[in-house]
Amino acid sequence: MRHLAEISREGRDILASDEMQSTRRFVQHGRVSVYEHSLKVTDMCLTLADVLRIQTDRRSLIRGALLHDFFLYDWHADEKWHRLHGYTHASRALLNAMARFTLNRRERDMIYSHMFPLNLTHVPHFRESVLLCTADKIVSTAETVRGVMDKHKQAP
Ligand SMILES: [Fe+2]
Ligand SMILES: [Fe+2]
Repeated sequence: MRHLAEISREGRDILASDEMQSTRRFVQHGRVSVYEHSLKVTDMCLTLADVLRIQTDRRSLIRGALLHDFFLYDWHADEKWHRLHGYTHASRALLNAMARFTLNRRERDMIYSHMFPLNLTHVPHFRESVLLCTADKIVSTAETVRGVMDKHKQAP
């Protein structure tokens, strides 16, 4: 991971929190945990900002990205209340993150709008939010494809 040192420095308190550590237990896509996914998405945000030479508030970019999937449950478990996970988890992640950390406007917007355009009304308002939206889709697609490939590998 290219930006691990920077992410660890700016997100130290988030990464060390019990809540964030608990996301190691939750699967996101394929065999990737929510914790690992959140780190990869954060790294991808920084890579996109570097490659596209986009000026950002890097600390906010890191902290918003680390917390974007801070919904804190296993969304694969068949329970009624999180059937609409795709539509509802951004709001839940924001509430959880606000209860635990102090977030600025940029970070709040990043978390709330990261599922745009699935959540059509949660429009990103900052360039950090647009970067997160894009990075999340790239990383999620790669994780899902890799999961499907692994399944095929195991087939006789
Ligand atoms: Fe998400
Ligand atoms: Fe995500």
